[in-house]
Amino acid sequence: MENIKYENGVLYLLDQTQLPNEESYLTPKTKEEYFFAIKSLQVRGAPAIGIFAAYAMALLDGDKEELKRYLDSARPTAVNLSWATGRMLKAYQDGKSLIDEAIAIHEEDKAMCRKISEYGLSLLHDGDGILTHCNAGALATSAYGTGLGPLLLGKEKGYTFHVYTDETRPLLQGARLTSYELEKAGVDVTLICDNMASLVMKQGKINAVLVGADRIAANGDTANKIGTSGVAVLAKYYGIPFYVLAPYSTIDYSCKTGDDIVIEEREADEIKSLYFEKPTALPETKCFNPAFDVTDSELITAIITDKGIIRAPYCENLKKIR
Ligand code: MRU
Repeated sequence: MENIKYENGVLYLLDQTQLPNEESYLTPKTKEEYFFAIKSLQVRGAPAIGIFAAYAMALLDGDKEELKRYLDSARPTAVNLSWATGRMLKAYQDGKSLIDEAIAIHEEDKAMCRKISEYGLSLLHDGDGILTHCNAGALATSAYGTGLGPLLLGKEKGYTFHVYTDETRPLLQGARLTSYELEKAGVDVTLICDNMASLVMKQGKINAVLVGADRIAANGDTANKIGTSGVAVLAKYYGIPFYVLAPYSTIDYSCKTGDDIVIEEREADEIKSLYFEKPTALPETKCFNPAFDVTDSELITAIITDKGIIRAPYCENLKKIR
């Protein structure tokens, strides 16, 4: 199952908002349809939105600088989006084939995910219990994924992992996407509510936590799906390794610390009504719905990239792979 497919001049997008109930593909044509696909999470996950936006830059006519600005504004936190559109703009200015550049970004992501998965797997043991948050699998990237990569690669190599996946409120990417992807791959997966992470850790069921990232600051602070920093605090308390997995394109050296990372805020309806038959709060009840939070680097055991496993001191060691 591929999330983004370019075939005979047409871009096909697996609509992730319909999962796990329906596997249907969209064929966006206008810039508004591309923007909506990113904004509404029909395509989501930092590397996947970068790949998708790269195809948009290649396939849509018009002013490319304006198009880049428009697409980048759909989701401000995941740096892979502006990284990919920036690379496409440069290719345009250099007179390169834009579709070849988009395909290259797509193919390179597959290779990076494979490397991340191999490095990640080298830190795990057969039989390990793993906790994941949100979805950092093939659906969020191009193949294997980042956070889920070692688990999917491990499955191919005959490892048995026992994966606990947080449902990940409010958009339920853990329930709708991670448990779906792992079930399909034949990995043993158990869905838990977000607030059960502490319990499964206390019960000794978790040997490592694996998560993806949307932007990594130069000091190793990482923006991840909302709720991740709480999981990191718990992991530290229980002495469980907490690994962040991401391609080098997720590192933003222009952000000195996590405080410089812009956090996307989303609509209140996602908390109050999106996945419920009836609203769960009064219309006038205020909601605060940031899509990401920042995990302090001191809570992170290692950042696993396609260029190797990076450990503290992050300022120094992240510079080495620049
Ligand atoms: O809001 P989403 O669903 O796009 O959030 C995605 C994630 O949380 C992932 O952890 C992150 O993008 C890394 S994807 C490999």
